[in-house]
Amino acid sequence: MSAERPLLEVEDVVVQFGGVTAVDHAGFAAHSGRITGLIGPNGAGKTTCFNVITGLQRPNQGSVRFDGRSITRLPVHRRSRRGMGRTFQRLEAFGSLTVRDNVRVARDIQRGITGLVRPASADVDHLLERVGIAAYAGERADSIPTGVARLLELARCLAADPKLLLLDEPSSGLDESETDAFGELLAELAHEGRAVLMVEHDMDLVMSVCDDIHVLDFGRVIASGPPAEVRADPAVQQAYLGYSDGSAEDHTQVDLPAVELTQEIRLEGART
Ligand SMILES: Nc1ncnc2c1ncn2[C@@H]1O[C@H](COP(=O)(O)OP(=O)(O)OP(=O)(O)O)[C@@H](O)[C@H]1O
Ligand SMILES: [Mg+2]
Repeated sequence: MSAERPLLEVEDVVVQFGGVTAVDHAGFAAHSGRITGLIGPNGAGKTTCFNVITGLQRPNQGSVRFDGRSITRLPVHRRSRRGMGRTFQRLEAFGSLTVRDNVRVARDIQRGITGLVRPASADVDHLLERVGIAAYAGERADSIPTGVARLLELARCLAADPKLLLLDEPSSGLDESETDAFGELLAELAHEGRAVLMVEHDMDLVMSVCDDIHVLDFGRVIASGPPAEVRADPAVQQAYLGYSDGSAEDHTQVDLPAVELTQEIRLEGART
């Protein structure tokens, strides 16, 4: 982990929905210039954490600090103005607009909020080029494949030039070569100094691009650290695969990417 103060600090957050504790005293951080993974089985509380960070969900307890200041009570638009950008697990683009116009609207909303004219890096066609979907610029957003729609979400998010990018399952729907290109893009975004916090089920991608990983299980952070450490952690193995004997031999035999397959099947099923 970096010694520098994190851009984002989540501390002791609790979220309850009736009798369900979705987030249970969770704490983790994300640093500028680094890619941080937030992983865990289905229903672990990952999206709920994103909702708390971005202001869509008020926590029952705990705090969120961004850029050294508490933002726990700040409304969504003010968090966005301070430099938070987010993509959604369920896609949120305007279906009747073209891909290009979706990004244009996102950029213009941001311009309206901040009053700033964005630099050339936020030019709409440049952003489409950058995320690799320029070929779809003139197509309606409701007619493009899911993988392209995910990249469109990312372009919309980048139009606001965020310091922190929160990406909720960004690679689902991407094929292998698109996922590789996406991993390279994430590395570039971090290299520019942005903090990337990513919820992702594709363990190959997570293990290859993340600098730090936090693992949630039943709302609790059960492991935090660099990929190799997290991957070898018995508690993580158990959370994903139900192992209980904790032997090191078994852990080396477990291939976490196999988990991703199960998750993808569930996601595909949920969409139909
Ligand atoms: N608005 C809500 N009302 C009631 N329960 C909720 C609500 N949102 C989430 N939950 C519950 O909170 C828990 C955590 O859900 P969450 O969506 O945060 O999980 P997740 O880790 O993002 O899962 P997935 O990998 O399936 O996206 C689950 O038990 C879920 O059913
Ligand atoms: Mg989720």
